Amino acid sequence: MKCDDLFCGINRPKSLNPDEMSDLEKKHTPVIMAPSSVKLEEPFEVKVELGKYLAHPNEYGHFFQWIEIWLDETFIARFDLTPKSSYPEVSVKIAINHAHEGRAKLKALAFCNLHGVWEGIKEIIVEE
Ligand SMILES: [Fe+2]
Repeated sequence: MKCDDLFCGINRPKSLNPDEMSDLEKKHTPVIMAPSSVKLEEPFEVKVELGKYLAHPNEYGHFFQWIEIWLDETFIARFDLTPKSSYPEVSVKIAINHAHEGRAKLKALAFCNLHGVWEGIKEIIVEE
């Protein structure tokens, strides 16, 4: 169970609809861009963007330090970022090698040094 402290556990927006998000949620929820349907073992591009709905600072005192991409419970990729020089917008080519009942859940985790870890998700269909 998550407490109210932003540094306790993983923060998730109450809704994935940006119209229903608070400003804090809009600034910190990773947005995943990927095909809604992919073929097993066929590479495709995943892009993760922070501050897509509302800009987030990228200053020395307030920035995203890292972004990770997970596929269900499997670690896929990690990006370490620096303020001002790199932007919290990353992409990587991946392939899905295992799927459960034709579906997979892409997860992006992003760590803001002032507001903790935030999660974005995107479900995709995996064709055999
Ligand atoms: Fe922040």
